[in-house]
Amino acid sequence: TPGIPDILSAEFNADPYSAYRIMRSEAPLIWHEPMQSYIVSRYEDVQRAFKDEVFTTANYDWQLEPVHGRTILQLSGREHAVRRALVAPAFRGSELREKFRPVIERNARELIDGFRDAGSVDLVSQFATHFPINVIVDMLGLDKGDHDRFHKWYTSIIAFLGNLSQDPGIAADGLRTREEFAEYMIPIIRERRGNPGDDLLSVLCRAEIDGTSMSDEDIKAFCSLLLAAGGETTDKAIAAMFANLLAHPDQMEAVRGDRSMIPKAFAETLRYTPPVHMIMRQPAEDVVFSGGEVPAGSTVTCLIGAANRDPERYADPDSFNVFRDELDASTAFTAAAGHLAFALGRHFCVGALLAENEVEIASNMLLDAMPDARPADDHAAEDKGVFTRGPARVPVVFTPRTTVSAG
Ligand code: HEM
Repeated sequence: TPGIPDILSAEFNADPYSAYRIMRSEAPLIWHEPMQSYIVSRYEDVQRAFKDEVFTTANYDWQLEPVHGRTILQLSGREHAVRRALVAPAFRGSELREKFRPVIERNARELIDGFRDAGSVDLVSQFATHFPINVIVDMLGLDKGDHDRFHKWYTSIIAFLGNLSQDPGIAADGLRTREEFAEYMIPIIRERRGNPGDDLLSVLCRAEIDGTSMSDEDIKAFCSLLLAAGGETTDKAIAAMFANLLAHPDQMEAVRGDRSMIPKAFAETLRYTPPVHMIMRQPAEDVVFSGGEVPAGSTVTCLIGAANRDPERYADPDSFNVFRDELDASTAFTAAAGHLAFALGRHFCVGALLAENEVEIASNMLLDAMPDARPADDHAAEDKGVFTRGPARVPVVFTPRTTVSAG
């Protein structure tokens, strides 16, 4: 489409938001030949594709299945409802808070201890990329000595998922990871069935609804999904929140002074810089979007990053503002928050509450450890990625607390 850089180009990657602006106003429905997909960018269209039952998830058979196996993301209808009901209770309120809060705290502390006396840190490579993976490994009751292996598998899986240009090396590495992950997980799942504990893996082994439970392969696939769906997203979201606050020192001070604003800062981060920018859907019938009609069975790419900055939905959408009237700390991690970063409808993120707990705990501890955090150098953090997107690095300097109290 004239005037809009191709979605797979370096120019688009450097600044998708400028392209989103033109798409929303001038080309709200685009046919993209190489991706064999329609693209929608307006809030009302993306919201509809997530909520309307006529749409199912589309690309996951070729994108997720080879690396994870069959997960709830590929399922629809009753099959999805049953599988989701089997796993969802482990990620709800009291169970999550009581059981996993100490796990989250422990893992945040371990990583912060690695740099708290240094006075400088890259929050991406030294904190955010490790923290959610370490939490998941710990929640599942797996060996913490295996963190490095999990980090390697995680890196390989997300490279595979983001491999829009079909690099054969990345593809082969992802398939190897699927094998290695299965070889590691299946014996542990079998062992855990016979010798259950209090961990998430044992909960998944025991889960049963009306005689339906998960096979070893189902559980392995779900654990693999947790690494990607719960890792990369939370990783990028924590990094983006700090990057956004560091770029707006007045807002950083407000959040530091009133920690009850953390959920608002996080919800605004998910609106302004969502970790997942693109999700695909497929309508079972012909559908009319604001920009035109899409035939049944076609693929529709929904641009979350564009929808979240639609001026029809948000005033002054290109400003990061934790003081927005509509932000509400009590619903910041539910569908009521309004932004589309967790999707909506039947696939709405299962891990939203876990993400909330992880972010709240980690942010509080990071703000305590870095009492005067400021950007380490002049240039703003650079975001990367078109499918998922987040800061490549967030270098921070601060006065270590020990020095503060000694002085
Ligand atoms: C689904 C985003 C954290 C597990 C989703 C979807 C999005 C999303 C957009 C919908 C995908 C689709 O409809 O195609 C995020 C973001 C997170 C986050 C932005 C952090 C800020 C987590 C965490 C977990 C998790 C911590 C781990 C428990 C899942 C699962 C699904 C999902 C299992 C599939 C739900 C289903 O198909 O019914 N997430 N996620 N997510 N997320 Fe998250």
